[in-house]
Amino acid sequence: PGFTVEILPEIDSTNSELMRRARAGRQEPILLVAEHQTAGRGRLGRGWQAAPGSALTFSFGLPLAPREWSGLSLVAGVAIAEALHPDLGLKWPNDLWWQDRKIGGILVETVGAGDADAERYVVVGAGLNIAQPPSPEDMRTPPAGLRELLPGVAATAVLQAVAPALVRGLLDFAVQGFASWQPRFEARDVLRGRAVVLSDGRRGTAASVDAEGVLRLATAEGWEAVRSAEVSVRPV
Ligand code: BTN
Repeated sequence: PGFTVEILPEIDSTNSELMRRARAGRQEPILLVAEHQTAGRGRLGRGWQAAPGSALTFSFGLPLAPREWSGLSLVAGVAIAEALHPDLGLKWPNDLWWQDRKIGGILVETVGAGDADAERYVVVGAGLNIAQPPSPEDMRTPPAGLRELLPGVAATAVLQAVAPALVRGLLDFAVQGFASWQPRFEARDVLRGRAVVLSDGRRGTAASVDAEGVLRLATAEGWEAVRSAEVSVRPV
C-alpha cells in the first residue's frame, strides 16, 4: 500500500503532529520522521526524550477499521521487533527490550468515532534508541541502544526495515485480528513467569498475554486482568 514519507528536521512530537493533521481532516497514510523532537511523548502522559542523532523517531498514520481493536499496540511492537532482530524482546504492552533494558517505546493513539467497528485514524509512534543513551540517575534500569545488537547500524537502515513491516503488520491485524500475533508476542515476552509490580502498586506474577492482548497477572488474591491503558509494569 502506498504512503507518503515526510522528514522534518524538528517538530514537537511526530505523534502530536499527525494527531493535529488528522483532527483537521488530513487522514492519509503517512510516515512522518523527525530528526529531533522538542516535546516527545510517551505512554501514560510521560515524556520521551532523545539527544539529536541518537534515536529514530517516527510516527505512522493510517486509517484502519479492524474487526477488533484490542491487541493493536502489541502488534506494532511485534512487527517492529521481528523486523529488527531475533533477540529483541517485548515488555508488555509494547516496549522493546534487550537484556532487561529498554531500547524503544511505542505510543499508539487514534482519532475517530466511538463505534467499535468504525474506521479510525491510527497513529503509531515509535522511538528507537540507536546509540546507547546516557542513563539518568533516577532510572531503575539503564536504557540500551540498537547498536549493541546491530553494531554500526544507521537510523535510515532501521527505518527501511521497520516501516514496511509495520504497515504490513497493521493491515494484517485489521483483517485477521490478533490471533496470529499472540504467539509471536509470547515468543518475545520478557515478563512471562516473572514477578512484577504495577504502577498502581499491584504485585504478582506475569503469567501470560491473552487473545485480546490483556496481561494475566497471578496475585495473592487470584487472577487479575491488566489492560494497557491503565498502568505500566516492571519486573522486580
Ligand atoms: C513510551 O516509551 O512510553 C513510548 C515512547 C514513544 C516515543 C515515540 S518517538 C515518535 C513518536 N512521537 C512521540 O511524541 N512519541 C512517539
